[in-house]
Amino acid sequence: MTKKIGIIVGSLRENSFNRMIAETIPELEPSVEYELISLAELPLYNGDLDRGDGPESVRLFREAIKRADGIIIVSPEYNSGIPGVLKNALDWASTPTKTAVLRRKPAGIVGATPGVKGTILSQQQIRQTLEATQAYVLPFQKMYISQVMDKVDAQRRILTDETTRSYLQRYVQQFIHWIDQVPSLD
Ligand SMILES: Cc1cc2nc3c(=O)[nH]c(=O)nc-3n(C[C@H](O)[C@H](O)[C@H](O)COP(=O)(O)O)c2cc1C
Repeated sequence: MTKKIGIIVGSLRENSFNRMIAETIPELEPSVEYELISLAELPLYNGDLDRGDGPESVRLFREAIKRADGIIIVSPEYNSGIPGVLKNALDWASTPTKTAVLRRKPAGIVGATPGVKGTILSQQQIRQTLEATQAYVLPFQKMYISQVMDKVDAQRRILTDETTRSYLQRYVQQFIHWIDQVPSLD
């Protein structure tokens, strides 16, 4: 059966560079299916709301992660760390502990910034959070995109820089291969 990859963008901005990168992925590697999983409707995490299936937006978010064979997060860096909206979403996906949808879920991390450091610090925190949820984060491989404004066509909302496109395609291929390795880790 064709694999499905869920893509979560850690920015709510309509013209987000990270969203443009996320939207380019299906074109670069069309061998699998993709679903963009929105975190825009999620409430702030509140244990009092986290009962049963929780709020409807949380239920839909968790279901979307559950039906994906793996998740790729495409996120900016805010103040040298993980954007709050993304941390909030990952917290919702980390409960209830025993049946959490991120548990044993293959996960990849991509990040883009107009700056020169490629979201290194943000990705470290995203990895730390994912590992706390017991997700299986693709080891070793990293996908940092710096000076992103020079690498996209903002009108067409697409990644145009050829070198970055081939790195990203390779990263997604490695991630698909990682999905196949994960059952042997259990
Ligand atoms: C509150 C805030 C903090 C930021 N901190 C960083 C940072 O630490 N490192 C970085 O590379 N860019 C930082 N930026 C710039 C973002 O990388 C830039 O706004 C980027 O376009 C956001 O991603 P998006 O285009 O996907 O929305 C920050 C932006 C904001 C709004």
